[in-house]
Amino acid sequence: MNKRNILITGGAGFIGSHVVRLFVNKYPDYRIVNLDALTYAGNLANLKDIENTPNYVFEKADICDFEAMEQIFKKYNIDGVIHLAAESHVDRSIKDPFSFAKTNIMGTLNLLEAARRTWQIPNSKSQIPNLFYHVSTDEVYGELDFDDTLFTETTAYDPHSPYSASKASSDHFVRAYRDTYGLPIVISNCSNNYGPYQFPEKLIPLFINNIRHNKPLPVYGKGENVRDWLYVTDHARAIDVIFHNGKQGDTYNIGGFNEWKNIDLIKVIIETVDRLLGRTKGESEKLITYVTDRAGHDLRYAIDATKLKNELGWTPSLQFEEGIEKTAQWYLENQDWLDNVTSGDYQQYYEKMYG
Ligand code: NAD
Ligand code: DAU
Repeated sequence: MNKRNILITGGAGFIGSHVVRLFVNKYPDYRIVNLDALTYAGNLANLKDIENTPNYVFEKADICDFEAMEQIFKKYNIDGVIHLAAESHVDRSIKDPFSFAKTNIMGTLNLLEAARRTWQIPNSKSQIPNLFYHVSTDEVYGELDFDDTLFTETTAYDPHSPYSASKASSDHFVRAYRDTYGLPIVISNCSNNYGPYQFPEKLIPLFINNIRHNKPLPVYGKGENVRDWLYVTDHARAIDVIFHNGKQGDTYNIGGFNEWKNIDLIKVIIETVDRLLGRTKGESEKLITYVTDRAGHDLRYAIDATKLKNELGWTPSLQFEEGIEKTAQWYLENQDWLDNVTSGDYQQYYEKMYG
């Protein structure tokens, strides 16, 4: 008998795979059901080390398929959901907004409705408090100016990209299910993650891979945009803490208190990768290529994670210098993984995106 049956969606993706790994290893008495459609961003190789663990199950399914979601809730007697499955890349959302609306809004709605129908059967005997946890992003808050104060949980939503608009919409649906049907929910909004298993369309793995292969480093605009960076396993730890101890119905911001201007971050990546490859210091700076800016490019994101610290005692565990060194080392040592995920469709995306 499992103590809990937890559905983690998007568990074959970047952050999801770290959350699945943490939960499978830390909670042997929970059954962890990883539900993923295995899109271009999902890869079961991310979970090789835990795939044969007895408390782990994988289900290939699409969150846009409502009947399949209902069946999975029933089949595994799901009592908790950690929902990460999404289209996650801003540049792709600019080229194909429909698939973002479909997966991020309709997919989330399907899961909410499946949870509502399964958990709100009259006279349900379950002793376990159900919880629907939506993993969201700081991008829903819009952008900050350089001297603005940080995003807090009460900052008004002001999304600018089709990606952030779809995530904002899914957050609204989650709160609507709380307010209309009494569904037990919690939401977290996190800043930029980095670390192993991130698809190399995102800034940090893309640039590490390009430096290694002496390819141009496409810096959008003037490289002055600012992001707050958090090591991915610290995000997974925060999700664990919020899932178990967060206040039902609440929202928690998660961030690294670690803001970097893109161009400064890129120089740190270059310095680190050049050193690890035994190249002369700064040798790869010549690869920096300023390209046309991203449409609607948000100037600055910066998260105030004080509530999470004060209420639940979470703080980031890794210093940025250590995190970036570990990350660069991992990508350099895992060229097979990179080659595998960058073959096929990704080549076409890269050509279309960067010419
Ligand atoms: P990712 O793109 O690496 O992974 C997404 C996963 O979802 C993949 O495994 C993919 O196969 C799966 N998926 C996509 N569409 C699906 C569908 N229709 N049905 C089932 N599975 C589907 O994304 P990520 O960077 O790991 O982000 C995970 C979540 O965290 C997303 O909801 C994202 O909005 C949020 N988030 C990401 C960051 C970040 O910096 N990456 C920061 C804050 C919040
Ligand atoms: O803030 C959280 C968000 O962080 C998540 O919700 C998203 O899923 C995640 O993709 C990330 O969004 P960003 O757009 O901030 O991440 P990305 O890695 O795409 O870009 C980081 C910054 O680097 C951004 O200012 C754009 C810039 N950039 C990015 C790429 C891919 C470049 O200058 N050149 C590039 O080639």
